[in-house]
Amino acid sequence: MTRIVVANSKSINDAAQILKQGGLVAMPTETVYGLAANANDSMAVARIFEAKGRPQFNPLIVHVNDIESVEQFAEVGSLDLALAQRFWPGSLTMILRRKSNSNLSDLVSAGLSTVAVRIPSHKTARALIKSCGFPLAAPSANKSGSLSPTSPAHVAQSLGDKVDMILAGGSCSIGLESTVVDCTGKTPYILRPGGVTADDISKILGVDIAYDLGDKGGQVKSPGQLLKHYAPSIPVRLNAIDLEQGEALLAFGSIKFMGIRNGDSAQNLPEDMIRNLSKEADLYEAATNLFSMMRDLDQPQNKGIAVMNIPDTGIGVAINDRLNRAADS
Ligand code: TXA
Ligand code: MG
Repeated sequence: MTRIVVANSKSINDAAQILKQGGLVAMPTETVYGLAANANDSMAVARIFEAKGRPQFNPLIVHVNDIESVEQFAEVGSLDLALAQRFWPGSLTMILRRKSNSNLSDLVSAGLSTVAVRIPSHKTARALIKSCGFPLAAPSANKSGSLSPTSPAHVAQSLGDKVDMILAGGSCSIGLESTVVDCTGKTPYILRPGGVTADDISKILGVDIAYDLGDKGGQVKSPGQLLKHYAPSIPVRLNAIDLEQGEALLAFGSIKFMGIRNGDSAQNLPEDMIRNLSKEADLYEAATNLFSMMRDLDQPQNKGIAVMNIPDTGIGVAINDRLNRAADS
């Protein structure tokens, strides 16, 4: 069994020792749990790909504690700096140009000339990076293609003994993966929506920020967009206004008027067939609950998961992005 250890100064120290020796540690971040390895050690980074069953063409995010560390391996321009100052530490990942002679493993960025980087805000992640003294490559700590983990138990279910230690730091406060922004061109654009929205970024840079989510054909900019992601093992049906018999309900807001096609009301569903992302229809609360509630309803006895409409504004854009990927089988 994998060791799940509550994060404190001793366990963080132990985790740093494991990472120094080329091991893998699952760490809490404010977005989702990450599967960390020494980003300068190709053997350790290779173990991440193996543990997740992740295709080697899909690059990883490098986690650091300060801008100076970013400058060791990536070019940081003035716009990048403005974004960093506003959103770091936090749930923004920037794609920057790699410097040609750095200590960073080539495997981290899958041989690309760019690299993804972020300064997380979770205090355990920060303490772990500090204790290591090197950057940590960390994708979400789940099997490639399945739901991202927002609790230590999710990590254990998904990766089992493939990880040397799970640092437990509670549930993730944001619950969705970071916003990925390509900063290598003149104007940044969003490759993956997240907690930091297009509007948030526009306000800082004074220009409109577009999305390129790889869903409109053309060249795919982020290798992760090629993969089926965030998928439960039963069908997911979006914008449901009523329920088929046997379907579980992922609700948002009031379910007073939600009916089942046999004439019954959704309010009478058994407890294990219904979850409400946010009874008050709060999008931030919904984001926090999304992955764990999809897991709860992802049971073989359920025919599928019917999801009520989620407004496509603010962090709702990120929620709908994950739901669309989950529904796209
Ligand atoms: O919130 C998060 O971002 C979490 C926590 C642990 O930090 N990490 C995470 O990593 O979600 P991952 O590997 O599951 O997703 C990273 C995404 C992938 O879609 C990948 O293709 C993209 O970022 N990516 C990484 N490096 C890239 C690069 N150089 N160019 C374009 N996309 C890149
Ligand atoms: Mg992932």
